[in-house]
Amino acid sequence: LALSTAALEIGIPTPPDGERLLELARRVKLFSAEDVETIRELWTEFVTKGGDSWYHFLIARRGGEMLGFACYGRRALTESTWDFYWLGVDQNAQGQGIGKVLLREVKESVRQHGGRLLLIETAGKPEFEPTRQFYLHTGCALEARIRDFYAPGDDLFIFTVRL
Ligand SMILES: CC(C)(COP(=O)(O)OP(=O)(O)OC[C@H]1O[C@@H](n2cnc3c(N)ncnc32)[C@H](O)[C@@H]1OP(=O)(O)O)[C@@H](O)C(=O)NCCC(=O)NCCS
Repeated sequence: LALSTAALEIGIPTPPDGERLLELARRVKLFSAEDVETIRELWTEFVTKGGDSWYHFLIARRGGEMLGFACYGRRALTESTWDFYWLGVDQNAQGQGIGKVLLREVKESVRQHGGRLLLIETAGKPEFEPTRQFYLHTGCALEARIRDFYAPGDDLFIFTVRL
Protein backbone atom coordinates (compact mmCIF):
# COMPACT_ATOMS: atom_id res chain seq x y z
CA LEU A 1 0.00 0.00 0.00
CA ALA A 2 2.83 2.38 0.87
CA LEU A 3 4.36 1.74 -2.53
CA SER A 4 1.21 2.27 -4.51
CA THR A 5 0.42 5.58 -2.82
CA ALA A 6 3.93 7.03 -3.18
CA ALA A 7 4.25 9.55 -5.98
CA LEU A 8 5.66 8.51 -9.31
CA GLU A 9 8.96 10.16 -10.17
CA ILE A 10 10.19 10.45 -13.74
CA GLY A 11 13.86 11.00 -14.43
CA ILE A 12 16.82 10.32 -16.68
CA PRO A 13 18.53 7.06 -15.68
CA THR A 14 22.24 6.73 -14.94
CA PRO A 15 24.59 3.76 -15.67
CA PRO A 16 23.86 1.93 -12.36
CA ASP A 17 20.16 1.78 -13.38
CA GLY A 18 21.00 -0.49 -16.33
CA GLU A 19 20.79 -3.78 -14.49
CA ARG A 20 17.32 -3.11 -13.07
CA LEU A 21 16.09 -1.67 -16.37
CA LEU A 22 17.07 -4.81 -18.29
CA GLU A 23 15.65 -7.04 -15.58
CA LEU A 24 12.36 -5.14 -15.80
CA ALA A 25 12.38 -5.55 -19.61
CA ARG A 26 13.11 -9.30 -19.30
CA ARG A 27 10.09 -9.73 -17.06
CA VAL A 28 7.67 -7.98 -19.45
CA LYS A 29 5.87 -10.94 -20.99
CA LEU A 30 5.33 -9.23 -24.33
CA PHE A 31 9.04 -8.60 -24.87
CA SER A 32 10.97 -11.38 -26.60
CA ALA A 33 14.61 -12.20 -25.86
CA GLU A 34 15.48 -10.40 -29.10
CA ASP A 35 13.55 -7.32 -27.92
CA VAL A 36 15.52 -7.30 -24.66
CA GLU A 37 18.79 -7.67 -26.58
CA THR A 38 17.87 -4.64 -28.69
CA ILE A 39 17.01 -2.64 -25.58
CA ARG A 40 20.40 -3.62 -24.15
CA GLU A 41 22.16 -2.32 -27.28
CA LEU A 42 20.34 1.02 -27.12
CA TRP A 43 21.08 1.27 -23.38
CA THR A 44 24.78 0.60 -23.99
CA GLU A 45 24.94 3.38 -26.56
CA PHE A 46 23.09 5.68 -24.16
CA VAL A 47 25.48 5.10 -21.26
CA THR A 48 28.59 5.13 -23.46
CA LYS A 49 27.84 8.30 -25.40
CA GLY A 50 25.93 10.24 -22.74
CA GLY A 51 24.68 13.56 -24.09
CA ASP A 52 25.85 12.63 -27.61
CA SER A 53 23.75 9.47 -27.67
CA TRP A 54 21.20 9.08 -30.40
CA TYR A 55 18.94 7.37 -27.86
CA HIS A 56 17.24 8.98 -24.88
CA PHE A 57 15.88 7.10 -21.88
CA LEU A 58 13.44 8.04 -19.12
CA ILE A 59 12.50 5.91 -16.14
CA ALA A 60 9.60 5.95 -13.70
CA ARG A 61 10.21 5.24 -10.03
CA ARG A 62 7.89 4.91 -7.08
CA GLY A 63 9.25 4.66 -3.57
CA GLY A 64 12.73 4.24 -5.07
CA GLU A 65 11.72 1.24 -7.18
CA MET A 66 12.00 1.41 -10.97
CA LEU A 67 8.63 0.52 -12.48
CA GLY A 68 8.91 1.60 -16.09
CA PHE A 69 11.15 2.94 -18.82
CA ALA A 70 10.91 4.68 -22.16
CA CYS A 71 13.43 4.96 -25.00
CA TYR A 72 13.13 7.44 -27.85
CA GLY A 73 15.27 9.36 -30.30
CA ARG A 74 15.50 11.62 -33.30
CA ARG A 75 14.70 10.06 -36.67
CA ALA A 76 17.65 10.34 -39.06
CA LEU A 77 17.18 12.34 -42.26
CA THR A 78 14.09 14.18 -41.01
CA GLU A 79 13.75 17.75 -39.83
CA SER A 80 11.97 17.15 -36.53
CA THR A 81 10.51 13.66 -36.45
CA TRP A 82 11.22 11.41 -33.47
CA ASP A 83 10.83 7.68 -32.89
CA PHE A 84 9.44 6.21 -29.70
CA TYR A 85 11.38 2.94 -29.64
CA TRP A 86 10.39 1.25 -26.40
CA LEU A 87 7.95 1.65 -23.57
CA GLY A 88 7.83 -0.94 -20.82
CA VAL A 89 6.04 -1.04 -17.49
CA ASP A 90 6.89 -3.68 -14.87
CA GLN A 91 4.75 -6.75 -15.43
CA ASN A 92 3.18 -6.33 -11.97
CA ALA A 93 2.57 -2.59 -12.25
CA GLN A 94 0.75 -2.35 -15.57
CA GLY A 95 -2.63 -0.63 -15.71
CA GLN A 96 -1.80 1.85 -12.94
CA GLY A 97 -1.19 4.87 -15.14
CA ILE A 98 2.60 4.57 -15.32
CA GLY A 99 2.74 4.12 -19.10
CA LYS A 100 0.53 7.14 -19.56
CA VAL A 101 2.83 9.33 -17.43
CA LEU A 102 5.94 8.08 -19.28
CA LEU A 103 4.31 8.80 -22.65
CA ARG A 104 3.40 12.30 -21.46
CA GLU A 105 6.99 12.96 -20.34
CA VAL A 106 8.43 11.61 -23.60
CA LYS A 107 6.13 13.96 -25.52
CA GLU A 108 7.28 16.86 -23.34
CA SER A 109 10.96 16.00 -23.83
CA VAL A 110 10.59 15.65 -27.60
CA ARG A 111 8.75 18.97 -27.71
CA GLN A 112 11.61 20.60 -25.77
CA HIS A 113 14.07 19.22 -28.32
CA GLY A 114 12.05 20.87 -31.08
CA GLY A 115 10.34 17.65 -32.18
CA ARG A 116 7.16 18.00 -34.19
CA LEU A 117 6.10 14.46 -34.93
CA LEU A 118 6.50 11.32 -32.81
CA LEU A 119 6.20 7.88 -34.42
CA ILE A 120 5.30 4.75 -32.50
CA GLU A 121 5.56 1.35 -34.16
CA THR A 122 3.86 -1.67 -32.68
CA ALA A 123 2.93 -5.18 -33.68
CA GLY A 124 -0.39 -6.43 -34.97
CA LYS A 125 -0.29 -9.76 -33.14
CA PRO A 126 -3.32 -10.47 -30.93
CA GLU A 127 -1.11 -10.27 -27.81
CA PHE A 128 -0.44 -6.61 -28.67
CA GLU A 129 -4.13 -5.67 -28.74
CA PRO A 130 -3.86 -4.17 -25.19
CA THR A 131 -0.81 -2.18 -26.33
CA ARG A 132 -2.71 -0.81 -29.32
CA GLN A 133 -5.64 0.04 -27.03
CA PHE A 134 -3.24 1.87 -24.72
CA TYR A 135 -1.98 4.08 -27.57
CA LEU A 136 -5.51 4.77 -28.80
CA HIS A 137 -6.61 5.67 -25.25
CA THR A 138 -3.71 8.06 -24.75
CA GLY A 139 -4.30 10.29 -27.75
CA CYS A 140 -2.09 8.62 -30.36
CA ALA A 141 -3.51 8.35 -33.86
CA LEU A 142 -3.31 5.16 -35.90
CA GLU A 143 -1.67 6.50 -39.04
CA ALA A 144 -0.64 3.41 -41.00
CA ARG A 145 -0.78 -0.36 -41.05
CA ILE A 146 1.55 -2.51 -43.11
CA ARG A 147 0.21 -6.00 -43.46
CA ASP A 148 2.51 -9.00 -42.88
CA PHE A 149 5.41 -6.68 -41.94
CA TYR A 150 6.87 -8.67 -39.02
CA ALA A 151 5.75 -12.06 -40.27
CA PRO A 152 2.84 -13.45 -42.28
CA GLY A 153 -0.23 -12.39 -40.30
CA ASP A 154 1.74 -10.03 -38.05
CA ASP A 155 1.19 -6.47 -39.19
CA LEU A 156 3.03 -3.27 -38.33
CA PHE A 157 0.88 -0.51 -36.81
CA ILE A 158 2.26 3.03 -36.86
CA PHE A 159 0.76 5.49 -34.41
CA THR A 160 1.65 9.17 -34.47
CA VAL A 161 1.53 12.07 -32.04
CA ARG A 162 1.70 15.60 -33.46
CA LEU A 163 3.41 17.91 -30.99
C1 LIG B 1 1.56 -0.85 -22.93
C2 LIG B 1 2.06 -0.35 -21.59
C3 LIG B 1 3.33 0.44 -21.78
C4 LIG B 1 0.97 0.59 -21.02
O1 LIG B 1 1.37 1.07 -19.76
P1 LIG B 1 0.41 0.92 -18.49
O2 LIG B 1 1.05 1.60 -17.37
O3 LIG B 1 0.07 -0.52 -18.34
O4 LIG B 1 -0.91 1.69 -18.98
P2 LIG B 1 -1.67 2.85 -18.18
O5 LIG B 1 -2.15 2.30 -16.90
O6 LIG B 1 -0.84 4.07 -18.15
O7 LIG B 1 -2.92 3.11 -19.13
C5 LIG B 1 -3.20 4.39 -19.65
C6 LIG B 1 -4.54 4.41 -20.31
O8 LIG B 1 -4.62 3.41 -21.33
C7 LIG B 1 -5.73 2.56 -21.05
N1 LIG B 1 -5.36 1.18 -21.32
C8 LIG B 1 -4.23 0.55 -20.94
N2 LIG B 1 -4.30 -0.74 -21.32
C9 LIG B 1 -5.50 -0.89 -21.91
C10 LIG B 1 -6.19 -1.98 -22.47
N3 LIG B 1 -5.65 -3.20 -22.48
N4 LIG B 1 -7.40 -1.79 -22.99
C11 LIG B 1 -7.98 -0.59 -22.94
N5 LIG B 1 -7.39 0.49 -22.40
C12 LIG B 1 -6.17 0.33 -21.91
C13 LIG B 1 -5.99 2.70 -19.58
O9 LIG B 1 -7.32 2.40 -19.29
C14 LIG B 1 -5.67 4.12 -19.32
O10 LIG B 1 -6.76 4.94 -19.69
P3 LIG B 1 -7.32 6.05 -18.68
O11 LIG B 1 -6.19 7.00 -18.47
O12 LIG B 1 -8.46 6.61 -19.42
O13 LIG B 1 -7.65 5.30 -17.44
C15 LIG B 1 2.31 -1.50 -20.59
O14 LIG B 1 1.12 -2.18 -20.33
C16 LIG B 1 3.37 -2.49 -21.03
O15 LIG B 1 4.55 -2.35 -20.69
N6 LIG B 1 2.96 -3.50 -21.81
C17 LIG B 1 3.87 -4.53 -22.30
C18 LIG B 1 4.94 -4.02 -23.24
C19 LIG B 1 4.42 -3.18 -24.38
O16 LIG B 1 3.46 -3.51 -25.05
N7 LIG B 1 5.08 -2.03 -24.62
C20 LIG B 1 4.73 -1.10 -25.66
C21 LIG B 1 5.31 -1.46 -26.98
S1 LIG B 1 7.09 -1.23 -27.02
